[in-house]
Amino acid sequence: MALRVRVCEITDVVPGELRGFAVPGVTWPVMVTSLEGVLVAFPGVCPHDDVSLVDYGVLDPDRMLRCRVHGYRFDLDTGACMHMPSLHLRRYKITVVGTELFVDLL
Ligand code: FES
Repeated sequence: MALRVRVCEITDVVPGELRGFAVPGVTWPVMVTSLEGVLVAFPGVCPHDDVSLVDYGVLDPDRMLRCRVHGYRFDLDTGACMHMPSLHLRRYKITVVGTELFVDLL
């Protein structure tokens, strides 16, 4: 059974821009963006070293997330890390209900 939480209004998502949304009871914000019409959501913490992606995450033009702390890049389609294969950026399953965006944390 999924643990589904509300993150934001769909109108809060800006195509090509990273935004972090605080979710009650969740330690890190949920990051959401839209890439060429596809919604993407992932935790707001770098899997490399617990750094805030709200503060240090950058969306590169090639659908990659780059953490500015050590420069690691993550493929937002697969979550794969280009620099350390053992690292993986988790991506949340997204559900849109009416005007609201939800993600499955589990
Ligand atoms: S903390 Fe993000 S790449 Fe190291």
